[in-house]
Amino acid sequence: MRTIWPAGGAVEIIDQTRLPFELSIRRLETPEKVAEAIAAMRVRGAPLIGAAAAYGLALAARCDPSRPALEKAAALLFATRPTAVNLGWALERMMAALLSAREEERALLGFRLAGEIAEEDVAINRAIGAHGLALFEKAFAEKGRPVEILTHCNAGWLATVDWGTALAPVYRAFDVGIKVHVWVGETRPRNQGASLTAWELARHGVPFTLLVDSAAGPLMREGRVDFAIVGTDRTTAEGEVANKIGTYMMALAARDSGVPFYVALPSPSIDWALAKGASIPIECRDAREVTHIEGWSEDGRRLRLRLSPEESPAFNPAFDVTPARLVTALITERGLCAASREGLAGLFPEHAASAREEAAGTF
Ligand code: MRU
Repeated sequence: MRTIWPAGGAVEIIDQTRLPFELSIRRLETPEKVAEAIAAMRVRGAPLIGAAAAYGLALAARCDPSRPALEKAAALLFATRPTAVNLGWALERMMAALLSAREEERALLGFRLAGEIAEEDVAINRAIGAHGLALFEKAFAEKGRPVEILTHCNAGWLATVDWGTALAPVYRAFDVGIKVHVWVGETRPRNQGASLTAWELARHGVPFTLLVDSAAGPLMREGRVDFAIVGTDRTTAEGEVANKIGTYMMALAARDSGVPFYVALPSPSIDWALAKGASIPIECRDAREVTHIEGWSEDGRRLRLRLSPEESPAFNPAFDVTPARLVTALITERGLCAASREGLAGLFPEHAASAREEAAGTF
């Protein structure tokens, strides 16, 4: 099953806010509905945000293919979530193609292009899976016991169109008979690990254990993790990695414990215009995600419960930046490389010249 697909002039998605309790499909007919779905995290994960935005523009081109209408839709979609660079990447690619076509061609072209972006994402993640698989194969052969993998947030197929990024090598390994066991950090405050990664792994039959985020450090310290592997929402041209809040602490603990820390990186998640991680825009979300917790009661009702005193202020940055020096290697669709300007430019020489410090683009 995929996370997004065209359906009779509209787009359908898995509504991830309903998981793990209900597999609910939602139909989106307008760019406004796509923007709402991204902002409300019905679709989330950097690659899927990019694919959803592309379909949002395809829907815009179907409703009104004029330049002002497309620009308005692109601005609306771009404003939904600031950190995943895939959003601006997909919108720029769609806008360049749509605006260079005649108005009467744009509706058809939009869906074709969005479909291409979605298919490319699947192919990229499949290739990341193949490159990462070699790491687990070697470890399994050497250790002769299940490979212990720690991950954070959800970088599985739900975060992409299919396969996932960090989990793609896990699925590949499992499918070819390599024994793996995944430690899944719950990922406060929105708990994508507990709700989405656990759901995915359980459906696939991959053995896993859920843990609170702060248990990851001691677990690595005790030698119970062979690999830490995460995804990214934006990696700079110098290999600095923005990912879900908590990733930096995991990378620090991994370094201190001698655990290799890998980042699965599809090339549309690379921001070639930025060098320093400090330039990455970090999304700050509603304080109520920290002061409250959401879940489902045993009788099937969705509940939001307060955790802190009413007057508690709360700070809720959704992402952090891990410096390149803490990253063992980046796993891209073209293979592994060092988290550095040289490493990335070696795999993607066509972008090396554009890797300069710039402000993030806006519509
Ligand atoms: O806030 P989210 O759930 O969209 O954050 C998702 C992540 O942090 C993932 O690790 C990231 O997008 C890479 S996923 C393939």
